[in-house]
Amino acid sequence: RYAMERRLNTVEHFDDQLSQMCGRCHSGARVALQRRPAKEWEHLVNFHLGQWPSLEYQAQARDRDWLDIALKQMVPDLAKRFPLDNPAWAEWLKARPESKVLAGQWAFSGHMLAKGDVRGVMTVSAEQGDTFKVEVKGAYADGTPFNGSGSAILYNGYEWRGNVKVGEANLRQVFAAIDGQMKGRMFEAEHDERGLDFSAAKAGQGRLLAVQPAFIKTGSDSEITLVGSDLFGKPDLGAGVQVTEVLESTPTLIRVKARAAKDAAAGPREVAVGALKGVQLAVYDKVDEVKVVPAFSIARIGENGASVPKVQGRFEAEAWGKDARGQPLRIGYLPATWKVEPFNERAVEDEDVRFAGQMQADGVFVPGGAGPNPERKMMTNNAGNLKVIATLADGGQQGEGHMIVTVQRWNNPPLP
Ligand code: HEC
Repeated sequence: RYAMERRLNTVEHFDDQLSQMCGRCHSGARVALQRRPAKEWEHLVNFHLGQWPSLEYQAQARDRDWLDIALKQMVPDLAKRFPLDNPAWAEWLKARPESKVLAGQWAFSGHMLAKGDVRGVMTVSAEQGDTFKVEVKGAYADGTPFNGSGSAILYNGYEWRGNVKVGEANLRQVFAAIDGQMKGRMFEAEHDERGLDFSAAKAGQGRLLAVQPAFIKTGSDSEITLVGSDLFGKPDLGAGVQVTEVLESTPTLIRVKARAAKDAAAGPREVAVGALKGVQLAVYDKVDEVKVVPAFSIARIGENGASVPKVQGRFEAEAWGKDARGQPLRIGYLPATWKVEPFNERAVEDEDVRFAGQMQADGVFVPGGAGPNPERKMMTNNAGNLKVIATLADGGQQGEGHMIVTVQRWNNPPLP
């Protein structure tokens, strides 16, 4: 799913054989997303050699008998791991729900790195065949509206693809729609690094989706929003956390003022609205550690007369504490200030910080322009190797990530 959802910072972990034989040109996901009988995997290998005949001379191929290994080892292995016939798939086809069951109101919750939580309601109306009209109405936690409309299509009763225009941005929806839930990612068509983790629950299927924010500090007051479908009644935020006022209450959103007692035990709380459960609120007393998310990422130079847009880096500071028993407790994303530093000696010498781009106050890194740069040694381009450093606004603890700023991705198919 990370490949279809275009989470291009994902670091894959496949076995060495698949990584070297197949995953050196495209993602391992590109392989694992297909199902074929042995004969069809064999055709695929032959097709590769016909289409890219220099394949055998390249690194991780010229050191071995690539074709022989591909045909004699990979084909049987792939046919076993990714066969066309599969009992789970046969079962699904038998009971596959009709598209029209998706029509209705969906409460949704999401999070975009460097922007924050978002929530709202998505209205889905069934059109011809397996297509839909889609309308989203919501807002980010900071008040930015998240309103728009578009269309979607459903494949095989569960694979949802939508195009929705929100403000000026054309967003793609790549979701799995199963059991009254949708889950996946919404991202800008032209800037897929700008995207949000998305989950939705259909009205009539009572489900708690998220608490925003999902943390509260002991001895403090905080405004907390619960998102879900069929939310009725006063929420219970768990031991030591009191709902002092209900500010807003609709079937898809409950906004409250909450207070965590000074002596509340640090740790996760099960949140409940009536009988609905399934999300947690972290009660914390102090931050022990800060992790930069994503820990490793890739940004790309662009524009400046080139045909490819820049690929930004987007970061957040994930705070961790300890629960009352000393176990690690994920608190969540806290406000931070941002800077970049050279990753190593080479980056110091090449002045990567000066050339590779600008880190903005909001944790968005905007890379430099594409093309050779006369100011750099040997007129190289604005690539760089950087540390990403977050400093918590409250407390000053620091965390560190790694970002490579590199050249354009000229070959950018929908599946990486
Ligand atoms: C020399 C580079 C290279 C190697 C090695 C390679 N591939 Fe590919 N593969 C490609 C390219 C290029 C494409 C087409 C990319 C595109 O459509 O953008 C492709 C496409 C594919 C597709 C999609 C084909 C389709 O019709 O949908 C699959 C599946 C695939 N490769 C599997 C494999 C497997 C399995 C291996 C290992 C046995 C492998 N690849 C090794 C370069 C490679």
